[in-house]
Amino acid sequence: MSDVTHGSPLLVTASLTKSFCLGKNNTLEVLKGIDLTLNRGEMVALLGDSGSGKSTLIQILGTLDQPTGGTVSLDGTDLFKLNRKKQAEIRNQKIGFIYQFHRLLPEFTSLENVMMPLLIGREIPKIAKEKASKVLEQVGLKERLLHRPGQLSGGEQQRVAIARSIVTEPILLLADEPTGNLDRGTAWSIFELLQNLNQDLGLTCLMVTHNNELAQHLNRQVHMIDGCLAAHGDES
Ligand SMILES: Nc1ncnc2c1ncn2[C@@H]1O[C@H](COP(=O)(O)OP(=O)(O)OP(=O)(O)O)[C@@H](O)[C@H]1O
Ligand SMILES: [Mg+2]
Repeated sequence: MSDVTHGSPLLVTASLTKSFCLGKNNTLEVLKGIDLTLNRGEMVALLGDSGSGKSTLIQILGTLDQPTGGTVSLDGTDLFKLNRKKQAEIRNQKIGFIYQFHRLLPEFTSLENVMMPLLIGREIPKIAKEKASKVLEQVGLKERLLHRPGQLSGGEQQRVAIARSIVTEPILLLADEPTGNLDRGTAWSIFELLQNLNQDLGLTCLMVTHNNELAQHLNRQVHMIDGCLAAHGDES
């Protein structure tokens, strides 16, 4: 992408902490001061043992949960200084999510599932339909617009979920084990699709994965160890 801002910081966290209160005098510290910078156009793998705090971090970066302390700045905006309504707006406009399980709405078609975030953002239905069809074509599902999730293969369902995550043209894609539930071949094809989107759209992507082989193909790897980031690269 020829964006002049390519490579400048997009997402910056400083001293980010998260604790869960489990009862009186029982607090679980899950994130212990995360300083992470994602630069524009970067595709970064987030690795770490089960329970190390990866999903907790992703949820907070996407404003789906609140931190206990520290800051998250996205595109120059301090996310947790905003009220919940404004956070929801930013989430809808600037952030895309992909999960291990697709979380598509079973009673809706591929097209309707992908239109959903646009309609939530008050897009005109006709335009939402056009945009959703185009993105579904982009992920190779032109012939599956009217299928419901139950009528699609696992890889196809994940492609619909990817289409849904990018239809609003987000600047940040947060993916929590997007290939974790797929066989090796399908995982690679989904991974390649994400790489193409990263290259074609300049999309910045943080991807949680347990798959070291995939992670090595990304620009950078960061490792979460018991709520802390082990520096491998330039997170500072
Ligand atoms: N709402 C919650 N209340 C209490 N503890 C929680 C909550 N959410 C997460 N935790 C705890 O925080 C720790 C980190 O969880 P998290 O889901 O972030 O791990 P993870 O690195 O994503 O693991 P996995 O690779 O298994 O998905 C776990 O020990 C978990 O039990
Ligand atoms: Mg997780």
